[in-house]
Amino acid sequence: MSNVLVTGGAGYIGSHACKALKAAGYTPVTYDNLVTGWKDAVKFGPFEQGDLSDRARLDEVFATYQPVAVMHFAALSQVGEAMSEPGRYWRNNVEGSLTLIEAATAAGCLNFVFSSTCATYGEHDNVVLDESTPQEPLNAYGASKRAVENILRDFEAAKGLRHVIFRYFNVAGADPEGEVGEHHRPETHLIPVMLEAIDGTRPALSIHGTDYDTPDGTCIRDYVHVCDLVDAHVLGLKWLTDGKGSRVFNLGTGKGFSVREVIDASRSVTNREVPHSEGPRRAGDATKLVSGSTRAAAELGWEPSRSTMPQMIADAWRWHQNGHYEG
Ligand SMILES: NC(=O)c1ccc[n+]([C@@H]2O[C@H](COP(=O)([O-])OP(=O)(O)OC[C@H]3O[C@@H](n4cnc5c(N)ncnc54)[C@H](O)[C@@H]3O)[C@@H](O)[C@H]2O)c1
Repeated sequence: MSNVLVTGGAGYIGSHACKALKAAGYTPVTYDNLVTGWKDAVKFGPFEQGDLSDRARLDEVFATYQPVAVMHFAALSQVGEAMSEPGRYWRNNVEGSLTLIEAATAAGCLNFVFSSTCATYGEHDNVVLDESTPQEPLNAYGASKRAVENILRDFEAAKGLRHVIFRYFNVAGADPEGEVGEHHRPETHLIPVMLEAIDGTRPALSIHGTDYDTPDGTCIRDYVHVCDLVDAHVLGLKWLTDGKGSRVFNLGTGKGFSVREVIDASRSVTNREVPHSEGPRRAGDATKLVSGSTRAAAELGWEPSRSTMPQMIADAWRWHQNGHYEG
């Protein structure tokens, strides 16, 4: 069975990717320092604790497992924190990724799947966001991801590192079988924050800005189910192992939901009120981020099946009520 090195495999998306990889016949080897991840989330293959910046440890892991590919999820990813602590983001996400990329190429592992983000696009009025949209990130998080995309291009030219870059829109939902789910501490993503407000584990959801140029004044985002997202990663891996060239794909559904619309949908899925307050805008947030691309469907054959808003909220709510990690 082929090994795939999954950095960040103890985190939200990486743990779902490990489950999908195992189901597809691969052995996912998680490499994670547990800064935001959970050992309990590593259920589908071996765990190797380590930091992206630790070249010797990475060399050892590449030598032990000889992976056919790297799926690189490990990163810090909170926009608010990136605005106040940009150095942490550049060091962890860019320097860390560079060390990983150097270790992979030195080990002859030349297939690389990278978690990028729609935050690399920044603010574009009335523009459909597809893979050719200029990348003008508004925050250090998006800038750090754009930088890694550029590093990958340089390493392809110099070392033959073929890569698939996925620019995710907002990822939501949880494994319908309840084995893994979203568990960030602190939680900053809208849907789980809303569910915490609903069950009283946090006082109220604060809406960051109600004066945006959108129909109801709140920011608009495109949401994709984590299981659909990781299915695309398995297709991206096959793309590379089939020998196809480096490619960038947006992963979103093309439908935008405002914060108020997500609150309304949560109320109707859970049958509970969503305590919320209205606050000022948060620095670094774009007004609207919605994918305008069908490339992943057309070229990878990606067919999202759980990415409706009620389904994503229902899956997240089930996990929120029944699942959590101890450590
Ligand atoms: N969740 C989203 O909506 C979303 C949207 C766009 C992009 N992304 C990207 O997807 C990836 C996964 O996001 P997530 O929501 O699962 O985050 P997460 O915080 O749950 O997972 C990240 C994992 O990486 C690990 N990690 C971080 N820095 C590390 C380091 N230096 N060395 C080793 N391990 C390290 C953490 O311990 C954690 O387990 C990230 O790269 C993120 O930027 C996420």
